[in-house]
Amino acid sequence: MAEPLKLAISKGRIFEETLPLLATADIYPREDPKTSRKLVLDTNREDLKLVIIRAADVPTYVEYGAADFGVAGKDVLLEHPGDGLYEPLDLRIAHCRMMVAGKSEMTPRLGHLRIATKYVRSTRRFYAERGEQVEVIKLYGSMELAPLVGLADRIVDLVDTGNTLRANGLVPLEHIADISSRLVVNKASMKMRHQPVKKFTRLMAEAVEKLH
Ligand code: ADP
Ligand code: PRP
Ligand code: MG
Repeated sequence: MAEPLKLAISKGRIFEETLPLLATADIYPREDPKTSRKLVLDTNREDLKLVIIRAADVPTYVEYGAADFGVAGKDVLLEHPGDGLYEPLDLRIAHCRMMVAGKSEMTPRLGHLRIATKYVRSTRRFYAERGEQVEVIKLYGSMELAPLVGLADRIVDLVDTGNTLRANGLVPLEHIADISSRLVVNKASMKMRHQPVKKFTRLMAEAVEKLH
């Protein structure tokens, strides 16, 4: 039998929200990454395995062909340089917005605004498009803290309910992009394993339609 296809997926929100789509396509993982330490999970289908990786690593695994497909947030894809991936399907899960946020009252700064974010590329692009010069400070999480302790004037982060901003006395200021998760496909797999890849993509597309 041919090598099973590998679907790269991160645990947590994306795994949980992809499960109903997989179930609609009659695909069931045999283990739960919440309780298992295994990183390669079998499914009820011999021809499909899940590989569990960090959300930000999904595009890299898929681009290099270490996984045939992946589920990745558009925020992560916007940060991934190049055009090494196909992005055939919006899975319409993990919806949120990428936004600029900050304190409602800001002490004026002499010089460039400082923006803390893990979304360096998207932030640079957003301000470059408006011709505004800013200083971007790369963080790996807890961006909401940065304005509170004087590290930055503003942040660029994801906002869903707004609870995290509110809890830290911050307000949304500008909308950068609507975010949802996408199915991404390795370019070589799309060519070399066209039939099974197309079939899986179609199953997922049907599941998205059924669940909306
Ligand atoms: P990480 O550990 O990288 O933050 P998450 O599971 O929190 O991983 O996020 C994975 C993806 O889910 C993100 O890339 C984004 O597309 C989406 N996401 C993140 N936070 C939210 C949120 N609060 N509401 C909805 N979707 C979100
Ligand atoms: C995400 C994001 C925001 C928060 C926004 O964090 O980085 O902090 O959700 O959601 P809200 O508007 O509904 O509050 P997440 O829950 O993923 O935590 P982590 O990535 O810092 O672990
Ligand atoms: Mg998160």
